[in-house]
Amino acid sequence: MTANNRIREARPHMTRNEGLIFERSSPGKAGAELAPLDVPAVSPAEALGGDLARSEIEGFPEVSELEVIRHFTRLSTWNYGVDTGVYPLGSCTMKYNARINEVVARLNGIATEHPYTPQDLAQGCLRILYETASCLREITGMDAISLQPAAGAQGELTGILMMRALLAERGDARKFVLIPDSAHGTNPASVAISGYDVRALKSNAQGCVDLADLDRAMDAQVAGLMLTNPNTLGIFETDIGKITEIVHSKGGLVYMDGANMNALVGVARPGDFGVDVMHLNLHKTFSTPHGGGGPGSGPVAVKKILEPFLPVPVVEKTREGKFRLNHDLPRSIGRVRAFTGNFGMAVRALAYMLANGPEGLRQTTEDAVLNANYIRSRLRGVYDLPYDRPCMHECVLSDRRQAAKGVRTGDIAKRLIDYGFHPYTTSFPLIVPGALMIEPTESASKEELDAFIDALEAIAEEAERDPQFVQHAPYTTRVTRLDEVAAARKPVLRWKPTSGAEASQ
Ligand SMILES: Cc1ncc(COP(=O)(O)O)c(C=O)c1O
Repeated sequence: MTANNRIREARPHMTRNEGLIFERSSPGKAGAELAPLDVPAVSPAEALGGDLARSEIEGFPEVSELEVIRHFTRLSTWNYGVDTGVYPLGSCTMKYNARINEVVARLNGIATEHPYTPQDLAQGCLRILYETASCLREITGMDAISLQPAAGAQGELTGILMMRALLAERGDARKFVLIPDSAHGTNPASVAISGYDVRALKSNAQGCVDLADLDRAMDAQVAGLMLTNPNTLGIFETDIGKITEIVHSKGGLVYMDGANMNALVGVARPGDFGVDVMHLNLHKTFSTPHGGGGPGSGPVAVKKILEPFLPVPVVEKTREGKFRLNHDLPRSIGRVRAFTGNFGMAVRALAYMLANGPEGLRQTTEDAVLNANYIRSRLRGVYDLPYDRPCMHECVLSDRRQAAKGVRTGDIAKRLIDYGFHPYTTSFPLIVPGALMIEPTESASKEELDAFIDALEAIAEEAERDPQFVQHAPYTTRVTRLDEVAAARKPVLRWKPTSGAEASQ
């Protein structure tokens, strides 16, 4: 082997079997050495009370500073993220968010402002909230917005509570909310938490709401319809005008789950097609990086009839051009979160919207939809396509062909890791057995999409030729198949030192 070959095979890690930091511990090693005391020593037990002072932390790793640095730096390179490649997790919109928005959110006077700052001194921050709400109003075609909810699901709850408050005020609170079977899973949960019962609607062969079914189900007991649009099949409800007409004609309201607005921004406005209340997921569509549990922001946008019920406070602009928080909304459903919501996310969203402008936002939407359709059309002969029609921001295939050989969507997803890609969303939506739900977002280039599609084509061939091989993937990861049921049912969340007896076994 030549020296050049050897260099090409170099790996950044000495070993792929990185131990836990606890397992590196050797007695007496320390990351820092303090200078000798030049003041009288104080006993922590005496100063704090014996029950608050502990002499040692059981199992605390004794390691050098360099070991800590290298350990965690090595671990960080094992991550897969939007900064490393396509992250096609359907229903999650894992797109790249420009660094500049992070810089803006961290600016002095923005990141450092305290929510109790007197309003006269916080005019800049209040203006950011006001402008963010104004841009989102323009994008959605709605009349008023609250930025308070801290997640999409909390936005849903807020919106349904507002619907309920309006109907209750009319003396007609009603009992049910209609939800199609193609809705996001949080929709029925939010409806149930707000005190309504769910009445389910079956999708038609095109993956959309069946108008005749809707007409039958929508009676005087029904408060309204909660519609994920585009739905979880990645399909736009083309009959949306007729849908809202039917619901309104029977005294109901239309809630739109707008977490998938990345398929509509700059192209279609829910306010124009009859939606009464909706939420947005700023952490999906409007530039806050997400995953790993937060932060979130699920603003709720409403039509005029629901405005009096918005959570307090609302941000207003006075005639003199000043900004203020109005707590005086007697018909408000109340507060749903502290202060005005996750402020930093409004900052990122505003930076994103202003930097892109109307043209840029529209282009972003068109690119996201184009990318999803490119994947759909190239893979339709390779994987089953249960709803064979143009999609919006994501496409949903199924493992029906591969399942005949015993290879399921989860196996294909695991094998995709060997090809260097983060898996798509598996087994969701539930109305597609064995679903492969793929959302490339606008961030993927054609080259990346081609490489991703090539990988899925290669896996389909492998499944045909050697199903068992795919069933046991992945092969290139540090751990292979985990017992996912045991991991969920008996999670081990904390490392504990092995006892002497166990260690010597
Ligand atoms: C369509 C849809 N609705 C609602 C939600 C819930 O949003 P969150 O996770 O912020 O509560 C999501 C989340 O991705 C979603 O995709």
